[in-house]
Amino acid sequence: MSMATETAGSGVDGNRARFSGLCADVESYYSARVAKYGATPRGVDWSCQATQDLRFVQLLKLCDFSAPFSLNDIGCGYGALCAYLAKRHPQAAIDYLGIDLSLSMVSRARRRFSASGRRFKVGKVSPRRATYSVASGIMNINVGGSRASWEAFVAEMLADLCRASLRGFSVNFIIGEVAGTADADAAPVQLYRTSPEPWIQYCERELGCTVETIDGYGMNEVTLLARCNES
Ligand SMILES: C[S@@+](CC[C@H](N)C(=O)[O-])C[C@H]1O[C@@H](n2cnc3c(N)ncnc32)[C@H](O)[C@@H]1O
Repeated sequence: MSMATETAGSGVDGNRARFSGLCADVESYYSARVAKYGATPRGVDWSCQATQDLRFVQLLKLCDFSAPFSLNDIGCGYGALCAYLAKRHPQAAIDYLGIDLSLSMVSRARRRFSASGRRFKVGKVSPRRATYSVASGIMNINVGGSRASWEAFVAEMLADLCRASLRGFSVNFIIGEVAGTADADAAPVQLYRTSPEPWIQYCERELGCTVETIDGYGMNEVTLLARCNES
């Protein structure tokens, strides 16, 4: 049984209503974080810039930097990936689009990083198909929903990433089975921890991707590089 079938439950209309509730909860969680901590790693729930950047290193292993490409950054937060790309890949020709549910995040991203070849949009889904899409941290925080409804949402986010990507997409997950709290002083939320296997299978069987798994980079996380069937 596919992950989407197993977890989707009450059909397309039911999911749409459920997902808009989840999106609203996620949006208000992250808007509160950035209001409290500003445009800093803590403002997007990361402990420091080193680990934020380490995630970008893994996600960008998908990309061929020797040629120009377009990039969707889903859940772009305040745009930290732009600073990382400017620092680590200053010669790369990248048509960048950052998308985030939170207007507070997007406003900060626009203020800091708007430039030619860089745009930001409030939303959940990219309006365009780019060469690649990356998503760092969007699967992690389930604000109050059941595990089953969150997994249906994860399946939808992966399908959206696939549809928005010509060559492929990359995404990270927290691994393990134990639920916990994101941060001692945060609102009570569930960290979504998972084994990567069901999501590798979902990307391969349901979305037709070939998946490479990256782990062992010193964090309790895994990064999936999903290469799409380009035909
Ligand atoms: C953990 S933060 C990471 C931000 C950024 N990727 C980084 O690494 O600095 C996750 C961000 O994704 C956004 N987000 C979560 N789920 C999303 C979704 N389904 N679509 C768009 N944005 C989402 C949140 O508002 C938040 O800004």
